[in-house]
Amino acid sequence: MSFPQRRMRRLRSSTALRKLLQETTLATSDFIMPLFLVQGHDIKEKINAMPGQYHYSLDKLEGVIHEIISLGIKAVLLFGSAQEKDELGSSAWDSQGITQRGIKKIKEIAPEIVVITDLCLCAYTEHGHCGVLKDHVIDNDASLESLCKVAISHAQAGADFVAPSDMMDGRVRAIRQVLDDSGYTATGIISYSTKFASGFYGPFREAADSAPQFGDRQSYQMQPANSREALLESLLDEQEGADMLMVKPALAYLDIVKEIRENTLLPLVCYNVSGEYSMIKAAVERGWIDEKKVVTESLLGMKRAGADLIITYYAMDVARWLREDA
Ligand code: PBG
Repeated sequence: MSFPQRRMRRLRSSTALRKLLQETTLATSDFIMPLFLVQGHDIKEKINAMPGQYHYSLDKLEGVIHEIISLGIKAVLLFGSAQEKDELGSSAWDSQGITQRGIKKIKEIAPEIVVITDLCLCAYTEHGHCGVLKDHVIDNDASLESLCKVAISHAQAGADFVAPSDMMDGRVRAIRQVLDDSGYTATGIISYSTKFASGFYGPFREAADSAPQFGDRQSYQMQPANSREALLESLLDEQEGADMLMVKPALAYLDIVKEIRENTLLPLVCYNVSGEYSMIKAAVERGWIDEKKVVTESLLGMKRAGADLIITYYAMDVARWLREDA
């Protein structure tokens, strides 16, 4: 049947009908809020490239954690910054490091919140790469040893999930093994399983001070043009024991989200990264777009493509909007 018998606009004719027929929805429990932790006291410092986001010292976490909880958000993703960087990135596995102390602090403030940690070396190495450098090449298997040490230190501190973001081969298997061997069978792995070498991480690298000092990340992160490889990357991490998979960035890769969704039964996360956030902020500041509309549209796109969970710097704003609209 087609026009004039079929009239699609019949189903769009009132707010109530539109609500009844809404196929995809956003819920506060869909969102994971990233937090940037720094050394020092009494610090809540604006991140220039990411308006509305802050660096927090641990003594300033209480306020924001209580706010996150009261908004109904269930999970945070922690990024620590290094006190000192070295060739290996060894402060990444310091039991007294900022991430490790941050995990403990957050669990003291709110034991019920799900604490996920970004597991990578790039913020801790002098060269800013995500692995161990040998003769100007990132050595995969040597990197695994370091990543395992970081994983143990985060688990020891009480992280619920570690989220390896380095894109080394075999890291999920190695981390699962070392966690199990050390008795941390309850600590999960959310793998950044399909992560592209993307220009959309620009603002984050300022926030985390993690830009590579030479070259780029193309020998370990994926090239944007490839979708079969994107699926294989995630399926391999599933086989290696990841509890959840992830696509990163989100907006330019929604076809990949959909493809992986159709090929796994694991929960799928997508990361609405810093560049995606800051582009919207910049246009909003100029009065060019409506922030709430554009953010809601973007996040609905990610859910529609098949994401179960979304890591987004907008988590707290969206939670507020959802509450206002309820
Ligand atoms: C660390 C890491 C990065 C991001 C998350 N974890 C940067 C990178 O890979 O260069 C990016 C997050 C964002 O842009 O919001 N490897």
